[in-house]
Formats: sequence, structure tokens, C-alpha cells
Amino acid sequence: MKQGRFVVIEGLEGAGKTTAIQTVQQWLQEQGHPLVQTREPGGTPLAEQIRTLVKSVQQERVSPVTELLLMYAARAQLLDNVIRPALERGDWVLADRHDLSSRAYQGGGRQIPDEVLDPIRQLVLADLRPDLTLYLDIDPVIGLERARARGELDRIEQEQLGFFQRARAKYLAIASSEPNIVVIDAAKPLADVQQQLRQALEQHFA
Ligand code: TMP
Repeated sequence: MKQGRFVVIEGLEGAGKTTAIQTVQQWLQEQGHPLVQTREPGGTPLAEQIRTLVKSVQQERVSPVTELLLMYAARAQLLDNVIRPALERGDWVLADRHDLSSRAYQGGGRQIPDEVLDPIRQLVLADLRPDLTLYLDIDPVIGLERARARGELDRIEQEQLGFFQRARAKYLAIASSEPNIVVIDAAKPLADVQQQLRQALEQHFA
């Protein structure tokens, strides 16, 4: 069976994911790989509706477990309808966020323990794991400043600094123990970030 590769871009708000995605997209196209791009939460009509729900400010407190389950509901939909079929066709998938976001934001930020996360991850992901995750690391003070400069903040972006500091700590802790996650220093100038990205891709897929 043909099998594509699964590349994920991760990072806090304001880390520069959009620009990084363009760099990775260009590299993949240069290599001639057929490419499918996704984003999470979102990427299918139903999952995009869930995205709107989780990002919008609600009249009531949103329970961390509700938020977690909505993220995984959107992910299940995207995996079944887009990501798994693409990989089975032999396409490469370039994802704007994936499971690591839930581990960082809901696990780290919302402090949901691994005992709660793990069975849900198992249910939704089964044995699917990204081939490479490029994590753009940024101090949330700088990242949030950039996000604020872009315009109005959504429900999650309105969280306190401590939430993002816990999310960053979780990203870094997981990255230090999983070899397929590469930490990119996103505080560096753009050309440097682009070089780090290309280098990681070349080392990983050479
Ligand atoms: P963004 O993709 O435009 O950054 O927006 C997605 C927001 O949702 C962002 O604040 C991160 C958050 N998020 C989670 O909290 N958990 C998740 O699993 C995912 C995919 C995103």
C-alpha cells in the first residue's frame, strides 16, 4: 500500500505558523510531493463548524472537558475524511496544528491530566502519528503581542498569560522526549526561521 507522510506545524499564537506553512509547502512542492493541507480544529465542513464554536466567546463558562472533546470531535472528523484517505493515496499531508495542540493547550494550559487525555487520544488517533512535527517556539509575551497586533482576540487567545506559559512548557517537555518533534526558535529573524525549517525537513526526509 502507498503511504504518504504527515508533517505538522505547531506553536502558540503569534509564533509565525502561517509563514512557516508557506516555507514548508514550498519545500514539499520542490520535492514534487502531492500535497493536502489541513488545519485544526477544522478542515472539513463539520469540523469548521466546531472551530467556529470553540473560538467564539460564549455566554457561559466553557468546561475544559467540553473544549477537549470538541477538539477531538473535530480531529476525528478530519482524520477519517481527509488525513487517513490522503496518506493511503500516497499524498503528503501538511497540517496547521494537530494532536500536540491538545496536549499543550488542554493538557498544559487547562491542566487536564494525561490519564484523561490518553484514552481519548487512543480512541481518535489509534496508531496514527505525524512523521515530523515542527514546533515554533516563542515566548508567549512576544507571541500574544503579535496576535494582538493582528486584531481582535478569540476566546482562547483571551486567556491569561499563565495559560500560554503552561502550554509552552508542555510543548517543550513533550518535544524533549519525542524524536519526531523539532523545536524551531521562532524568536529569530524570518530568514533564520526559514533556514531552520528547511534544515529540519532535509534532515528528516533525506
Ligand atoms: P489557530 O489555528 O488559528 O491558532 O486557532 C486555533 C486555536 O485553538 C488556538 O488558540 C489553539 C487552540 N487549539 C486548542 O486549544 N487545542 C487543539 O487541539 C487545537 C487543534 C487548537
